[in-house]
Amino acid sequence: MSKGLTVILEEWKCLEEEYQQLQEKHQMYLQKLNEISKLQNSCSSSISSQRRKLKEVSHLVKRCSTGPSEEDAKTLDEIKEKIKTRPNAFFEMEAFLPQKNGLYLSLVLGNVNVTLLSKQSKFAYKDEYEKFKLCLTVLLLLCSFICYFFVSYRFLDAILNFLLVWYYCTLTIRESILITNGSRIKGWWVFHHYVSAFLSGVMLTWPDGILYKTFRNQFLAYTLYQSFVQCLQCYYQSGCLYRLRALGERHNMDLTVEGFQSWMWKGLTFLLPFLFFGHFWQLFNSLCLFRMAQLPDCKEWQARLGTTLHGVKFPSASSKQCERDTQRGEAKRADTTEMDAETAANSEPMVGEEEPLFGNLDLFLFSLIAGLLVYWFMSRKKPEPIPEFKKLETPAPTTKETSFIEKMKKTGKNIIVFYGSQTGTGEEFANRLSKDAQRYGMKGMAADPEEYDMGELSRLSEIENSLAIFCMATYGEGDPTDNAQDFYDWLQENDDEDLSGLNYTVFALGNKTYEHYNAMGKYVDKRLEELGAKRIFDLGLGDDDGNLEEDFISWREQFWPAVCEHFGVEASGDDSSIRQYELKELTDVNMNKVFTGEIGRLKSFEVQKPPYDSKNPFLATVTLNRRLNKGGDRHLMHLEVDITGSRIRYESGDHVAVFPTNDSALVNKLGQILAVDLDVVISLNNLDEESNKRHPFPCPTTYRTALTHYLDITHPPRTNVLYELAQYASDPKDQENMRKMASSSPEGKALYQGWVLDACRNILAILEDMPSLRPPIDHLCELLPRLQARYYSIASSSKVHPNSIHICAVVVEYNTKTGRVNKGVATNWLKNKLVTDNGHKSTVPMYIRKSQFRLPFKATNPVIMIGPGTGIAPFMGFIQERGWLKQQGKEVGETVLYFGCRHKDEDFIYQEELQDAEKNEVITQLNVAFSRDQEQKVYVQHMMKTNKEHIWKLIHSDNAHIYVCGDARNMAKDVQLAFYEIAEELGGMTRTQATDYIKKLMTKGRYSQDVWS
Ligand SMILES: Cc1cc2nc3c(=O)[nH]c(=O)nc-3n(C[C@H](O)[C@H](O)[C@H](O)COP(=O)(O)OP(=O)(O)OC[C@H]3O[C@@H](n4cnc5c(N)ncnc54)[C@H](O)[C@@H]3O)c2cc1C
Ligand SMILES: NC(=O)c1ccc[n+]([C@@H]2O[C@H](COP(=O)([O-])OP(=O)(O)OC[C@H]3O[C@@H](n4cnc5c(N)ncnc54)[C@H](OP(=O)(O)O)[C@@H]3O)[C@@H](O)[C@H]2O)c1
Ligand SMILES: Cc1cc2nc3c(=O)[nH]c(=O)nc-3n(C[C@H](O)[C@H](O)[C@H](O)COP(=O)(O)O)c2cc1C
Repeated sequence: MSKGLTVILEEWKCLEEEYQQLQEKHQMYLQKLNEISKLQNSCSSSISSQRRKLKEVSHLVKRCSTGPSEEDAKTLDEIKEKIKTRPNAFFEMEAFLPQKNGLYLSLVLGNVNVTLLSKQSKFAYKDEYEKFKLCLTVLLLLCSFICYFFVSYRFLDAILNFLLVWYYCTLTIRESILITNGSRIKGWWVFHHYVSAFLSGVMLTWPDGILYKTFRNQFLAYTLYQSFVQCLQCYYQSGCLYRLRALGERHNMDLTVEGFQSWMWKGLTFLLPFLFFGHFWQLFNSLCLFRMAQLPDCKEWQARLGTTLHGVKFPSASSKQCERDTQRGEAKRADTTEMDAETAANSEPMVGEEEPLFGNLDLFLFSLIAGLLVYWFMSRKKPEPIPEFKKLETPAPTTKETSFIEKMKKTGKNIIVFYGSQTGTGEEFANRLSKDAQRYGMKGMAADPEEYDMGELSRLSEIENSLAIFCMATYGEGDPTDNAQDFYDWLQENDDEDLSGLNYTVFALGNKTYEHYNAMGKYVDKRLEELGAKRIFDLGLGDDDGNLEEDFISWREQFWPAVCEHFGVEASGDDSSIRQYELKELTDVNMNKVFTGEIGRLKSFEVQKPPYDSKNPFLATVTLNRRLNKGGDRHLMHLEVDITGSRIRYESGDHVAVFPTNDSALVNKLGQILAVDLDVVISLNNLDEESNKRHPFPCPTTYRTALTHYLDITHPPRTNVLYELAQYASDPKDQENMRKMASSSPEGKALYQGWVLDACRNILAILEDMPSLRPPIDHLCELLPRLQARYYSIASSSKVHPNSIHICAVVVEYNTKTGRVNKGVATNWLKNKLVTDNGHKSTVPMYIRKSQFRLPFKATNPVIMIGPGTGIAPFMGFIQERGWLKQQGKEVGETVLYFGCRHKDEDFIYQEELQDAEKNEVITQLNVAFSRDQEQKVYVQHMMKTNKEHIWKLIHSDNAHIYVCGDARNMAKDVQLAFYEIAEELGGMTRTQATDYIKKLMTKGRYSQDVWS
């Protein structure tokens, strides 16, 4: 035999022997397994029979408990005590015996054995479960954070929701396995996860749309919060586990039972508020979805199902609390039983539970009561549940899609028209331009820069033949409108932005009577060019003091051909009218869901909720309405409104905005002339489903409400309205004239200027004077601009009148060339706001608009106030405030007032108050110019000239602040001129130097104007 074979044979022999041993071992193992199996069966059946017998014995004990001797009673008590603890012992035994899978596990896993038979494997499983939970929670936290703050794509939302579904499903399986292995995880807790899985599934299937977007952020915020609390919980739980284990090794780890308890209680006290807050968030989600589900527009079952699921989760959330209680029970155990390390560690996940501080029932009842209280609080003034879902009801933007690029791509648009607008003209022009695009074979959308990420401008080049148009109005001292402020800041701050791929043009809206004519439009035009963007058509300048409409149509007429040439496209020549909204008449509608004049939220005038702003005005009660002038045919009024309890704060110099109502006689006449029932309930729905603006005004509503509260029916209509309405004139001559007026031909412009503007014809007058023109009322409602809030300079000081706001206004009423009497909407409506009207209190929907028109910070600075007529308004507040400061013992500088009116005996308004203030030395110099009491006109600026030395000293030497309020068209300019002249004369300056001098005062905030025209 060769040497090699001998070695192999020896090796083989060894292997054979080892194999024999292995076979024997395995045989033994199978035998033991068989025995174990038998033992398991026998234990299980013994436990069952023990349970049965225990039941019988407890019955016997109960029956026997009547009248035994003292000793017997003691024995019985002992038995009772033992009977009580026995089920717990059985439970712990069963944790190490194979169990039948419950229904859920059988459905998911089949009949596989999931019982872990050693303490180590149980502990390892629980440990792994905690780690899994923590990792996934952190991942979810990150994902929801990104989705909430940075990206808003339905696709990413879907991924997050899918992750949530998977996470919750996995948790339910793992938790069921843990329960099978003796864990005391509560059924409620697992149920909570079942519902969460279901709910995330609902969110996953919710189709993209306004309703989804409205709830999306709320859901994301909730997920974010839940994940955050989960992380806190995990940290707390791992701390508990670590300490429990350490307790078992107390001799070599410096940890006491008291130390453990103190840590645990601290943790619990810290966690509880977070848990309860999350708990009520569920309820809030449920209520929001409930209200959403009530909306007439809500056709999606997800809102209804979401309501139920969040509602169900609200009480179930208490289970989290139970889990905390379980650990508290464990702590007590750690305290009372001298556990060795292994017992402490291994029994943790499956330990027996002692009585919790609050039982499930307590928590359920507590939640139910709290929930009912919240519900009662939210609905106490409402007879029926009312949809209050603010964002959906407003005609204003309803969604928060911030990427205009994505939106344009999705909807196939290539032109975007941004508007910076305060009173709607810029927005109207933007809408018209975006509509025009269709006529030139392109697709446009109007956009509020406040709603979009303007940082995306550089990406517009991703869209073929793209163009950004900016319709920018200017306010204040050359400032942007509120909605363009962020865009303005962005332009200023981003020097490195590369806009080389951006095609743009700007149309500026302004008024020549203002110092900084069209400053915002000019700035945007210049800045975009600086940043590398390509101007494809010259800046347009619109002057509201002249004819803004004409400026716009002239610019537009040249602009579109330039665009066509630039992109090499042909105008389609399709001049037909394009409807933006479709009419829905609602016959069977719950009148509680119909808007009756609310600006934003439905029923917001019945259930008022701060904060109050332009979308949520406060209904202030009129407490005083008096005529100020003693004579003359005008009506100057002083109005006081009460703001008690509204939490509205204002400062002297701020403006109050009021939402007026159109004259009902005008509305009725419109109804008559168009032969329509004004009380029909309608909804005008945007045909472009992707548009942020779903309705032109709050819908559903009646024609009467629309014409009374939402639409401007008194100003002369713009040319686009005439153009669109022309199709409804049956007389071809009328049709031709209307189209001509909308054209940019000199003849058309002259016709519009003469027939509409100079004659002050509003829509009713046009319909009366053009009998062949009878448009459908819904199209008219679509075309008319929104009725705007009117601003008034507040005529009171919040230091003296913290709960009331004063207005000083002159009622507008004039005769037109056509022999009609036109009445100002707001002033005539305010005039009729009596303190009590048929036993009811009169109210005014209002909000505050902050201004820069402020008294100097140092009261010792002198002030020069110039305010003829109603221009006195803010100075009444200033005077009250200076008087109040004096009363407080403060040193107050000179207070000089220049007031002007027509006649001393007629319209010297606030005469007594002003003279009193002069007597009390609050006004140090009162100058009143009565313009018509002598042959030659005397105006404020004439009196200023008379006092020029004093004025110059105050400005040049004493650091005085100058304030001008009232008419922008003439007065403010003439007064400014007077200051130039004073500076020239007394400062020895040239006109240019004097102009610079006054301009510098303006820049420093020492020359402020609050003017209107
Ligand atoms: C910041 C700011 C502060 C203001 N503060 C005050 C204030 O303190 N007190 C105050 O009284 N007003 C103030 N106003 C003006 C006020 O906002 C309203 O414009 C004014 O009260 C008229 O509103 P109305 O709705 O009654 O008139 P509207 O219905 O708006 O009618 C006014 C329009 O009628 C036209 N019109 C008016 N008179 C004539 C005429 N004789 N001939 C032809 N057309 C005419 C003009 O087009 C005018 O714009 C302020 C305006 C601003 C912007
Ligand atoms: N847009 C609107 O609807 C609206 C509504 C209300 C008021 N306003 C504007 O607000 C201004 C104030 O209105 P009001 O009714 O309160 O004032 P007002 O009584 O018409 O005028 C106040 C005083 O100022 C004088 N005045 C006129 N032109 C002046 C000038 N260039 N410089 C200095 N003083 C001059 C008037 O004199 P004479 O009249 O004798 O010339 C009068 O004595 C009005 O001028 C009007 O333009 C506009
Ligand atoms: C209180 C007030 C301040 C204004 N300030 C300026 C200004 O500083 N410069 C300017 O060119 N136009 C100014 N305007 C005119 C507006 O810009 C102009 O009326 C414009 O058409 C308004 O557009 P909107 O309706 O879109 O807000 C002012 C108008 C008001 C009522």
